[in-house]
Amino acid sequence: MIMVLFGPPGCGKGTQAGIIAKDIEIPHLSTGDMLRDAVKSKTETGLKAASIMEEGKLVSDEIVINIIKDRICNSDCKNGFILDGFPRTVSQAKELDIMLTTENMKVDLVVDFSVNDEALISRIEGRFSCGDCGEGYNDHTKLPTKEGICDECGSSNFIRRKDDNRATVSKRLEAYYKDTLPILPYYKEKKVLHSIDGLADIDSVTTELMSLIKK
Ligand code: AP5
Repeated sequence: MIMVLFGPPGCGKGTQAGIIAKDIEIPHLSTGDMLRDAVKSKTETGLKAASIMEEGKLVSDEIVINIIKDRICNSDCKNGFILDGFPRTVSQAKELDIMLTTENMKVDLVVDFSVNDEALISRIEGRFSCGDCGEGYNDHTKLPTKEGICDECGSSNFIRRKDDNRATVSKRLEAYYKDTLPILPYYKEKKVLHSIDGLADIDSVTTELMSLIKK
């Protein structure tokens, strides 16, 4: 199963990809996470991407296509994977198909999360995570059971993404509407596109996704 989770910043792609990847035991490939790792490690890619990400703009197609090309060659991807945050331009979608065709694979399912901008901004502004184990939290929906202590690892080192502020989110949404949304007709034509209600609670979204996967 090769699945693309599609939608604007904060729609729940990362949350759902994490849950489903564990459930059906295929890797969760997030270009955002891979780029943030590269920034943290100060690799050549990271140095190129850092300021672009902080401004809420898209990193070049060339950079992200190369990242994905390298990653999907790994043996853990042979039974499929979940893409989160890729493709984000029509060129990336076309390039993905070229990569997959050479491996005798194809995109099986694209799920578009339907949401509204105000809900996204509130979710993003509330998001934080444990800087040690990565467990995700949210000011509005999921606080640690004991204030200031991570439920998973006991750390008190919490972090917020640099691009999770109202001004940058507006830029990220602009990039989504201008460059990413135009991908949908491409997948609609291939008859792999499904839409779900991203405003439903997390468990209901997971149930809906699982039923699409089992179809
Ligand atoms: P990336 O990391 O991909 O960020 P994004 O697309 O902006 O998406 P987010 O991670 O903000 O949102 P999400 O949909 O995963 O939401 P989440 O599940 O966390 O990209 C960052 C940057 O990297 C880009 O701006 C760009 O610069 C660059 N980049 C990455 N990929 C690229 C590419 N292919 N091409 C070019 N540049 C690229 O949920 C958000 C919050 O809401 C969480 O706190 C969560 O707990 C909560 N939540 C989730 N679901 C629900 C629900 N159903 N109900 C209530 N709360 C919920």
